Amino acid sequence: MLAPRIAPSILSANFARLGDDVRRVEAGGADVIHVDVMDGQFVPNLTIGPQVVRDLRPVTKLVLDCHLMIETPDALVGDFVKAGADMISVHAEACRHLHRTVHVIKAHGVKAGVAINPATPAEAVLPLLEDLDFVLVMSVNPGFGGQSFIPAVLHKVRRIRAEADQRNPSLSIEIDGGINATTATVAREAGVDLFVAGSAVFGDTDVANAIRRLQRAVGATPDHLAGA
Ligand code: DX5
Ligand code: ZN
Repeated sequence: MLAPRIAPSILSANFARLGDDVRRVEAGGADVIHVDVMDGQFVPNLTIGPQVVRDLRPVTKLVLDCHLMIETPDALVGDFVKAGADMISVHAEACRHLHRTVHVIKAHGVKAGVAINPATPAEAVLPLLEDLDFVLVMSVNPGFGGQSFIPAVLHKVRRIRAEADQRNPSLSIEIDGGINATTATVAREAGVDLFVAGSAVFGDTDVANAIRRLQRAVGATPDHLAGA
């Protein structure tokens, strides 16, 4: 089983002090910064573009994970990579030629992922498992933070994990939406290793404590204890 990692989503941060919020979660033990990119078309909300990623790049050493909830990602992948993205996911529902888009991401030398909405079957990613670094299973309908976890997606996690164990064991499975200590625990049991959490982290005045709570729920060893 891949080691669990915690990825605070900056969607729930305060955009007027984004750099400080990212520094706080890095100091609090986060592994990855999850960046939600929304175009007002694929999802009914608008957020940020490559410029924010460029400005965050010097602020943190953590992996920048860009979740592109946009209709035509191919044209923007290069801009996000230039800005400093380390991981990029695109939605299966948005890409007419998903295999091509995945290879566009890989050609830029960053980790490539495909995200699937709650109503999209696991089969949408299975033909691509060997090509992917990660699959992002959405556990809410994308667009907003603070929604409730949809437990029915867990069977897809199990299905993808079992198939990946045969065909691409290093494939990471990320889950996004409604993650807190309780839902992270069941997601871990199903085979998730990368846990996105927006409101559960930034909704707590003590973000380090919120991250520790998630780490404990998924059996992660905080850095300061690893190797001790
Ligand atoms: C939703 C976004 C999520 C969001 C999760 O469309 O993809 O990353 O920030 O927020 P919480 O953890 O509050 O559900
Ligand atoms: Zn997201």
